[in-house]
Amino acid sequence: MLFPRPVNKEKVQEVKIVEKRVSSYNPNAGFSAEEAEYYEIFGHANHVSCKLFDSVDVAGRTVFDPGCGGEPTFAREVLLRKGVYIPSDVRYAALEAMGNAVGTGGFLADLTDLAAVPLMAGAYDFTHVRMVLRHLGDRKEEAVREAVRVTGIAAFFLELSWQKLLEQDFHIPLLDAFVGLNMEIMKQLDVDPFMGDSLEDLVRSACPEKEFGFFPGVYGRDQGPYSQELVKLGRMIASQIDNHNTAKRFAQPLRQLSARIEAQPFSFTPPDFHTITVFRL
Ligand SMILES: C[S@@+](CC[C@H](N)C(=O)[O-])C[C@H]1O[C@@H](n2cnc3c(N)ncnc32)[C@H](O)[C@@H]1O
Repeated sequence: MLFPRPVNKEKVQEVKIVEKRVSSYNPNAGFSAEEAEYYEIFGHANHVSCKLFDSVDVAGRTVFDPGCGGEPTFAREVLLRKGVYIPSDVRYAALEAMGNAVGTGGFLADLTDLAAVPLMAGAYDFTHVRMVLRHLGDRKEEAVREAVRVTGIAAFFLELSWQKLLEQDFHIPLLDAFVGLNMEIMKQLDVDPFMGDSLEDLVRSACPEKEFGFFPGVYGRDQGPYSQELVKLGRMIASQIDNHNTAKRFAQPLRQLSARIEAQPFSFTPPDFHTITVFRL
């Protein structure tokens, strides 16, 4: 299959991605209200994506967004810039939510495991991979190679590092409890909380230097009243682990902790986004 396909339930059933474990995400998992709410308020992610895309002209060009999730803010930005937005995810429910939010008229999408994209080299002009690699376990390098292989002009990778959450200037017990609990959960789910820190090395080692130029960056925020982001993040993660074999025991404590943070908001320094842009030379 060489070209992106429309969102199509029958097609999805044909794709046997469920047979192998593609990442910490279950392909059959839904797109919950909690997930939509979290990404809606986490505007920093889109701010960073927009900054990166300011360096290119997407008008009339394709923007492939593997692991797009179902929240349409970035998609709308691409459409506003007159780009052709092409979402892709391992979860049908995420693609469906994206299709519903952005509209499906002329809307192309593909159900794809990022580590094995069924497309020809250079199929898309730009690729945007945001907060996906952290879920890919030992297949991160394959995923980077695939993302870059299908990109004709530039690929943008964005990953958070939770390091800043461990290095606050002063001790915030609720934040410590939140980070501690989530570290446990991420261990169970095989999610890399420090993906941002190793992103540049990973991308450079996956791409031959002679063929690509690299532009790394770090986008942080100063200390501020961001605890509502933690509340939404906590509720989203709790909804994702409700049915998980080993992590479900953390769902209730995480909901309780999120409620306590909501009742006692605080200021803190949020995690940095580490980015790297890979231009084809
Ligand atoms: C943390 S969410 C990020 C969503 C979106 N990129 C954003 O920044 O708002 C990770 C997304 O990657 C998807 N995903 C996980 N593993 C994947 C894989 N192997 N290939 C493609 N998508 C994947 C998940 O289903 C989920 O929607």
